[in-house]
Amino acid sequence: MGRRMKALAYHGRRDVRVDTVPDPRIEEPTDAIVRMTTTAICGSDLHLYELLGPFIEEGSILGHEPMGVVEEVGAEVSELSPGDRVVIPFQISCGNCFMCDQGLQTQCETTQVREQGMGAMLFGYTKLYGSKDGGQAEYLRVPQAQYTHIKVPDGPPDERFVYLSDVLPTAWQAVEYAGIPDGGSVTVLGLGPIGDMAARIAMHRGHRVIGVDLVRERLERVRARGAEVLDLREHDQDLAEVIRAMTDGRGTDSVIDAVGMEAHGSPGAKMAQQVAGLLPDAVAEKMMEKAGIDRLHAFHLAIDIVRRGGTISLIGVYGGMADPLPMLTIFDKQIQLRMGQANVKRWADDIMPLLTNGDPLGVEAFHTHKLPLEQAPEAYEMFQKKEDGVVKVLLKP
Ligand SMILES: NC(=O)c1ccc[n+]([C@@H]2O[C@H](COP(=O)([O-])OP(=O)(O)OC[C@H]3O[C@@H](n4cnc5c(N)ncnc54)[C@H](O)[C@@H]3O)[C@@H](O)[C@H]2O)c1
Ligand SMILES: [Zn+2]
Ligand SMILES: [Zn+2]
Repeated sequence: MGRRMKALAYHGRRDVRVDTVPDPRIEEPTDAIVRMTTTAICGSDLHLYELLGPFIEEGSILGHEPMGVVEEVGAEVSELSPGDRVVIPFQISCGNCFMCDQGLQTQCETTQVREQGMGAMLFGYTKLYGSKDGGQAEYLRVPQAQYTHIKVPDGPPDERFVYLSDVLPTAWQAVEYAGIPDGGSVTVLGLGPIGDMAARIAMHRGHRVIGVDLVRERLERVRARGAEVLDLREHDQDLAEVIRAMTDGRGTDSVIDAVGMEAHGSPGAKMAQQVAGLLPDAVAEKMMEKAGIDRLHAFHLAIDIVRRGGTISLIGVYGGMADPLPMLTIFDKQIQLRMGQANVKRWADDIMPLLTNGDPLGVEAFHTHKLPLEQAPEAYEMFQKKEDGVVKVLLKP
């Protein structure tokens, strides 16, 4: 019998529990075992919690925003030693294939989940992404550890670096893909951690930012850092109109959709999701893949808001296969569209100076809650309901 650890496991819709499970062990010479010191909950975890049950096996360990200290390394991981302080990217990539060589680590050809027709394996993210246990646990086995890590210096607290796992590179890629012209403007839809951080990065680069959400605390946070904000509840019908009026009648140069598939405001899709929730998993899985479970509300807003010839950057996750789109408008407005999971290692070096030379993005005070791992089930519930001003929860194993 090996040692046993605590880990946050999936048990069903809105049912996650802290279980005691065997410690992970080195399985491949390219593995490392990392002892978790801080591990965050992501908006993407809420999609698992609410919607994606048919794609997860009971007992799967969630979490893909971890950092910690290297405990043990496999024979081929000469890049790491026990004691190294590391952040672990949410995707597993080899660093040495056609895709990794061009900075497309989310498409890594060594870890692609081919039997599902999907890109690189992710930590704690359903069988579509390889059923790899995640990092909301005391220990994490990291495959392809020779490359799947970001070393960080000793000194500053974990809060400074933990967002390198996901939030920072995701927000960074959202801004890169938005192609905002120098001195130009961007609307950020959704001011959860991703939208909030994207707004900070865009402002840091000198862009005009208009942030949109329907949660007061989130709007306030982004306003306090210098963005203009609009409350969707007050502009349910006229949001695009109002933004055009603020931008010489055109709309912003770019729009970042940091909402994704659980957007408030698409009742039809909500019904489809609820129906799927009542079906046996195998049937529900097919239905969700084929019929399109997306609530496209935010994406439709983005198409309306962006100026002609502008760019939409989709960073919120969508998941359907048959979602109708207004092709006439997209074509006629000559909209450019970029999207995808963030390529973490591609952006890490660009971001690092903003973490080591002071803290211009305010990451150290970015979290709203810091809780022991044991309280993760309560934290998920609070985060989903957006209670208690929660924006970002850090868990301490
Ligand atoms: N592409 C990637 O690599 C990547 C990585 C991390 C997260 N994500 C995705 O990014 C999205 C945001 O993540 P998060 O952690 O900030 O999640 P979150 O759920 O905390 O934030 C979403 C925000 O959108 C707001 N919102 C809902 N409907 C809206 C609407 N119609 N218009 C404007 N705002 C609306 C919500 O009030 C909430 O504040 C999620 O879909 C997540 O899965 C993608
Ligand atoms: Zn995440
Ligand atoms: Zn690769």
